[in-house]
Amino acid sequence: MVNTFESRFSSRSTPPPELPPFKYASRFDKPVFGDWRDELAQQGYTVVKGAVPTEKALQYREKAFEWLESFPLGFKRDDPKTWTNDCLPVHVKGGMFHSYGFCHEKYLWDLRCEPGIIDAFAKVWGTDELITSFDGGSIMLPKRTDVPDGGKWEHMDQSHHRKGFYCCQGLVNLNHCGPEDGGLMVLEGSNKLVEEFFDTHGRESYKTWGPFDWYGFTAEQQQWFFDRGCKWIKVCAEPGDLIMWDSRTMHYNVRPSGERDRVCTYICMAPAALLTEEDRQTRIACYEEFHGTTHVPFAAIFSRKFEPVHRADGKPCPHDTGKPRIPPVETPTLRKLVGIDAY
Ligand SMILES: [Fe+2]
Repeated sequence: MVNTFESRFSSRSTPPPELPPFKYASRFDKPVFGDWRDELAQQGYTVVKGAVPTEKALQYREKAFEWLESFPLGFKRDDPKTWTNDCLPVHVKGGMFHSYGFCHEKYLWDLRCEPGIIDAFAKVWGTDELITSFDGGSIMLPKRTDVPDGGKWEHMDQSHHRKGFYCCQGLVNLNHCGPEDGGLMVLEGSNKLVEEFFDTHGRESYKTWGPFDWYGFTAEQQQWFFDRGCKWIKVCAEPGDLIMWDSRTMHYNVRPSGERDRVCTYICMAPAALLTEEDRQTRIACYEEFHGTTHVPFAAIFSRKFEPVHRADGKPCPHDTGKPRIPPVETPTLRKLVGIDAY
């Protein structure tokens, strides 16, 4: 059964909050950079080639499979019979992992500390003094038959109350990702139209699964964008490429329909200077307790208290301790990306 948008999300009404002007709101109004940032400004997304060297990216993919095999659930990367919910840690949408302390797994932190990743976000913001989100990742196996159709979740990761550019998201691609391999779908150019859309249609109500900076679009709402020329694009990339998109760009993901697995992690960095002391303390607590966060690292931080994830039988998963299997090594770079140490 298809899980409809209306059944999955609650509709809320809130008075528009008072939001201060954002320092970077007009940063991507015009393509003035002369590099991939111009695509980010014009299309709402771009692919930064080779942010992580290819061989290293494929090694990170191996780490993802080692993580799955570290649970005593029977998963084996070479045995498709074990590519099932019974043999895997609990996940959503056919392979998105957030529980089990996964967001703080060592290999995810190693990726966040990769110089090419930090450099790309430094170009986005014009500063290399950055903090990072504590996002999870996807490990989507091909030919799975036990994954229910969860719908598409066309959304943007930015409140419709915000004006202008607010955040840039990243996806580190860790396997070859062609048209059949699943991945990120983006509505090209929607970044430039969302403000006009909400100016026209109003901002009174919204749908979200929780965070302030999330907005789900209905099929009727998407039609307004199609009528103005926007088209859905499947973003293809090679191992080590960093896909970046403006948080105003509507997007969703698709599972692989071909032979290959889809492995990626989500990373979002922003200037440390945007962090308030209160949010800095929230982030340090999340880091110390291995809690994940949503994408925006500097404000309206959305994180849940630890509670073991439930398996299909409705019982808490005994393997979800809320702690990573291999904890990160605390380096000076990591401490700055958390916000523990100042730049
Ligand atoms: Fe998203």
